[in-house]
Amino acid sequence: MALTWRGTTMMAGLFMVAWTPQAGADVGDAEAGGVLVNAVCTECHEAPAELTAKLQGDSDADKAAWLGTFLAGHFVPEAQDQQNIAAYLLSLGE
Ligand code: HEC
Repeated sequence: MALTWRGTTMMAGLFMVAWTPQAGADVGDAEAGGVLVNAVCTECHEAPAELTAKLQGDSDADKAAWLGTFLAGHFVPEAQDQQNIAAYLLSLGE
């Protein structure tokens, strides 16, 4: 019983880490984000690197969090998609 509880708690903890916006720069899947950007965003934004330049924040984590909030009202309702796009755009800036 005790072991089961511990396992459940650990899994819940991992799940929360993966979905915490501040960790977005590390958890987003840049490859999946690139597919989304090219399918959705380039229709209106020709150069994804110009979007990277518009991300607001002092660190990659701040920028990913800002973009997640912005995208929630800008064509990307899913949190995981937002983080994937953030990872892709941030990877362009490196
Ligand atoms: C239907 C057209 C359209 C699509 C699709 C679109 N955008 Fe935009 N986006 C705009 C317009 C219009 C603006 C405001 C003018 C500008 O800054 O270029 C904007 C602004 C932005 C900004 C700048 C916000 C700011 O405060 O400076 C970002 C970042 C952005 N879009 C990201 C994205 C991403 C990422 C995608 C793909 C998921 C996307 N957009 C899809 C039209 C679009």
